[in-house]
Amino acid sequence: MTGRLKIRDLANAVQSEMKIHGSRAENILEGLREIISKFLMSDLSGLGVKREGNHIDESRYLYYDGEMSITLDHLPQGKKIPPHDHGTWEALAIYSGSLHHTVYERKDDGRVGGYAELEVVDERVLKPGDISMVAPPAEIHSFCAETTDTWSVTIVGSPYKLERNYYEPDNNSCRVANPKKQTVT
Ligand SMILES: [Fe+2]
Repeated sequence: MTGRLKIRDLANAVQSEMKIHGSRAENILEGLREIISKFLMSDLSGLGVKREGNHIDESRYLYYDGEMSITLDHLPQGKKIPPHDHGTWEALAIYSGSLHHTVYERKDDGRVGGYAELEVVDERVLKPGDISMVAPPAEIHSFCAETTDTWSVTIVGSPYKLERNYYEPDNNSCRVANPKKQTVT
């Protein structure tokens, strides 16, 4: 059958790659690159069911099965989302616009409350078709959309942890917060 790639096809592909590779997120991403690229070329406008986003106002579920999710997210221009972790892997695939995106790895052992050392492992401006995998041990990212039309297809392997760490790398500090209550400027 020709025509648009179905959301179900993408979801099935994610599940089979997870079955093969377990928690090895980079391998999962390699197995998914082609199908995600195809998916990003489809017209996704009007798809999805409204979801309450963690840092953003407009997020739509394309797929959710209680574990894995695929969402379509509008990333607001100029809003700096501070470095935060997830407790799972998250693949960010750019559908439109432009996103300044930084991935960090935590270098300390987390034993000193409020203290964290982060190292930047990837800093890029992501454009349509680009994909960034944010996954342990580098499962911390920050981002800021550069255009009003920045949308991502976000694939998350399992539910986010409820209490997340928010980091201030400039002064080696971190704090635990519930992202729903997080005020971001
Ligand atoms: Fe995130």
